[in-house]
Amino acid sequence: MQRCIVTGANRGLGLALVTQLLERGARVLACCRDPAGAKVLDALAAANGDRVAVHALDVADPAAIEALPKAVAKHLQRVDLLVNNAGVLVSGERFGNVQAESLAESFAVNASAPLLITQALAPLLALGNKPRVLCVTSQIGSIAQSASFRTVSYAMSKAALNMAVKRLATELAPRGILVLTAHPGWVKTEMGGTGATIAPADSARALLNLIERAQMQDAGKFLAYDGAELPW
Ligand SMILES: NC(=O)c1ccc[n+]([C@@H]2O[C@H](COP(=O)([O-])OP(=O)(O)OC[C@H]3O[C@@H](n4cnc5c(N)ncnc54)[C@H](OP(=O)(O)O)[C@@H]3O)[C@@H](O)[C@H]2O)c1
Repeated sequence: MQRCIVTGANRGLGLALVTQLLERGARVLACCRDPAGAKVLDALAAANGDRVAVHALDVADPAAIEALPKAVAKHLQRVDLLVNNAGVLVSGERFGNVQAESLAESFAVNASAPLLITQALAPLLALGNKPRVLCVTSQIGSIAQSASFRTVSYAMSKAALNMAVKRLATELAPRGILVLTAHPGWVKTEMGGTGATIAPADSARALLNLIERAQMQDAGKFLAYDGAELPW
C-alpha cells in the first residue's frame, strides 16, 4: 500500500488515515473540498515533501471525479489503495422533518461518490500493487440492525453504499482489485462527537491493518474496524 488516495482528508478520520499512511512510508494524494482551508494537511505536506499532494475534490461534483484520474496519474502513476472516506451526516432528522436536500446530499456524498470514484480510478487501480479499495461505511447502514428512524438519510445512503461495494467487489475481483466496506467504530470526530469512544488515530490504524491484511475472499464483506463481520 505505497500509493494511496484518501477522500475527506482535511479532518477527522480522513486526516488520521493520511497521517498513518505517511508514517507507514506511503505516498498519498490527500483529497479535500477546500485545500486553502486545510491547514493541518498543509503542515503534513510541508513536513513530508513530495510524498503528499493535496488535491481539491468535492466528491459530490461529477466533473471533479471525471478529472481525478489525471491528477492521480500525475502524482501517483498507479493506485495501491483508495479510501473512500468523505461522508456527511445530517443531524436532527426526525419523522416529519426530513428534507429532500438532505437525502440528495447524503446519497451523492455517501453512496454515489464512492461508486463513481472507484469506477473512474479502476484502470489506475488495475496497475497497482495488490490494489484495494476501502469504503468507510457505518453500522447505522445495517438494515438488519435498524431500530429507529433517526438520521434516516445517513442510514439509507450507507445501506446504498454497502450495495455499491458488493457490486464493485464482484466486478473488480477478476481484475485483482479487492473492495470492501468497513465501519470505523464510534470515532471522536466532528461527526462522532465528544462522547465517542475511539480516537481517530486508533480507528485509522485498525482500518489500515484490516485492509492491508484482507484477502481476496474478503472482497465485498461488511466489516467492523476490529475485523468482525456485520449483518447487512
Ligand atoms: N465518526 C464516527 O463515529 C463515524 C462512525 C461511522 C462511520 N463514520 C464514517 O467515517 C467517515 C469519516 O467521518 P468523520 O467521523 O471523520 O467525519 P467528519 O469529521 O465530519 O469529517 C467528514 C469529512 O468528509 C468530508 N466531506 C463531506 N462532504 C464532502 C464532499 N462533498 N466532498 C469532499 N469531502 C466531503 C469533510 O470535508 P469538509 O471539511 O470540507 O466538510 C470531512 O473531511 C465518514 O464516511 C463517516 O460516515 C464515522
